[in-house]
Amino acid sequence: MHFLFLSRTFESTTMKKEILFCYLFLVGGFLKAQIPDWSTSIAPLFYANCTSCHNPNGIGHFSLLTYNNAILYAPTIRNVVEFRKMPPWPANPEYRHFKDEALLDSLEIIAILAWIDNGLPLGDTSLAPPIPSYAIGGSLLDTIHHTIQIPPYTIPTNARCIIILRFTPDFKIQFM
Ligand code: HEC
Repeated sequence: MHFLFLSRTFESTTMKKEILFCYLFLVGGFLKAQIPDWSTSIAPLFYANCTSCHNPNGIGHFSLLTYNNAILYAPTIRNVVEFRKMPPWPANPEYRHFKDEALLDSLEIIAILAWIDNGLPLGDTSLAPPIPSYAIGGSLLDTIHHTIQIPPYTIPTNARCIIILRFTPDFKIQFM
């Protein structure tokens, strides 16, 4: 039997109980046949929530595109998913919701934890979705309306950086 300690980050007791219950139920053996595997559960979940950054050309410093890549990071993935550090979404969903917010729901978190705790099953690879491809320096936006060239800039090794330029008052940024 596995135990899950979620109390540090979950402000909602209901959600905490719900996750704990579902998780114990899942790993307790009732749903042995339905333990999430890479091919049918985890790959689709990672492709929808993680690989836009965690691909060889992305800002995440390792790729989660393939099973062999992903299992190397299983213990860290477990931690960041359990404590909702990834996908990065600093806004508090208990307080307010945003359009296109990048959050895993309770069942997705349970699926990832159960996959890791049950030995990272691969499943039937013929059922796995195609591996998405991402262009070098590619944008995640469907349409780019405006591109700006900035002077070369060195980002310090231990920092991440977003540069916001000054625009005329009639120029509005919707996405970046
Ligand atoms: C918006 C981009 C983005 C998305 C989406 C994203 N990540 Fe990350 N992830 C990053 C970046 C950037 C880092 C490096 C963070 C740092 O160095 O502090 C990172 C770091 C990590 C780490 C290493 C953490 C550590 O402490 O070393 C793991 C594991 C991880 N991500 C897993 C995931 C998983 C699993 C998902 C999807 C559920 C995901 N990430 C979604 C950008 C992203």
